[in-house]
Amino acid sequence: MSALLATDLKGKTAIVTGGATGIGRAIATALAAHGVRIAICDLDADAARKTASALGTEAQGFAIDVSQRARVEKAFAEIESTFGFYDILIANAGVSTMNRAIDITDEEWDFNFAVNIKGVFLTNQAAVRHFLARGKNGVIVNTASLAAKVGAPLLAHYSASKFAVLGWTQALAREVAADGIRVNAVCPGFVKTSMQEREVAWEAKLRNLSPEQVIGEYVAQTPLGRLEEPEDIAGLAVFLCGPLGQSFSGAALARSRSLVFCADGGGPARGPTAAEKTPITASPTRGGSVYGVRLSANLVDVGPVARHSAAVQSGCRPHARAGAGGTRRRPRAVVGERGGDDSVLHLSAT
Ligand SMILES: NC(=O)c1ccc[n+]([C@@H]2O[C@H](COP(=O)([O-])OP(=O)(O)OC[C@H]3O[C@@H](n4cnc5c(N)ncnc54)[C@H](O)[C@@H]3O)[C@@H](O)[C@H]2O)c1
Repeated sequence: MSALLATDLKGKTAIVTGGATGIGRAIATALAAHGVRIAICDLDADAARKTASALGTEAQGFAIDVSQRARVEKAFAEIESTFGFYDILIANAGVSTMNRAIDITDEEWDFNFAVNIKGVFLTNQAAVRHFLARGKNGVIVNTASLAAKVGAPLLAHYSASKFAVLGWTQALAREVAADGIRVNAVCPGFVKTSMQEREVAWEAKLRNLSPEQVIGEYVAQTPLGRLEEPEDIAGLAVFLCGPLGQSFSGAALARSRSLVFCADGGGPARGPTAAEKTPITASPTRGGSVYGVRLSANLVDVGPVARHSAAVQSGCRPHARAGAGGTRRRPRAVVGERGGDDSVLHLSAT
């Protein structure tokens, strides 16, 4: 896979917003490793330049505030005059604050929306105009969040802004598909960055828990049984930019919770109780009902009988892997994501 990606991405140029640190820096590093020239854009211009110089001579840092049209246009014009063109936009800059919904202030609401969705709108618009003017294909990857798929308590304003990112991503993807431009999103879960450190401290205070208890809850909600690393998200972004991602547009990829996984490869912290067994209605177009086990608010295990066929019907390739003796085994559990209206059972696959 690595060779395919490298072949296709070499010589391309990418803008990475919020690229000075955290997930953005990991995406920039992964793209640079595949021969992509990188424009790191960040509110913290010094940190952007520092990160760029660590990536080598094919990377440069630029100052930007993604929430301000004039600052976006200035930075993108500087990038164009430095590199001549760009093919990829990673719209990753984002902020969060944490508060109970009843206590969220106008300032918090506006701050989250200004950076998280207006920033995506402004940078995506500038990039699409550039791609159209060049008459060439382009790729956009927006960093949304797991909180864009499932409402996150204490993050209602952040969640709302990230749901908006997915709405924008899907609509734009449909609008520009005929121009050869692909627009997708990645949905990080609980990723070890400075944003997470701030959120753990806020949540511990708001819920009167220790930071360790908060982190324990994050891990328990993650099928992989560990916090995500920035590099996990970088892998998704590189995938979406490269040849293996060519058929993806309007998609929102997550590494945790909505991924198919094997129960014997790391599952939920505890098994579901009998009381949690819930009938789940499968897509009417596929007919019938699937009875599943609710694992959390939005996840269901579709059950031992249905899980294999449901995965196949949904276009998922059931996850199988070599056992100790080299034989391939069926998964013991396939987990799907339940649609908000209970009418559709989404099963996702890797
Ligand atoms: N860390 C997580 O668990 C997590 C989970 C879900 C989604 N995300 C999303 O991933 C993205 C990156 O998050 P992170 O965890 O790396 O955060 P981070 O705080 O570690 O890094 C964010 C970067 O964005 C920059 N930035 C902030 N406001 C900006 C602005 N107005 N203009 C330009 N740059 C700006 C910051 O200076 C910083 O370098 C964000 O969109 C975030 O919402 C993170």
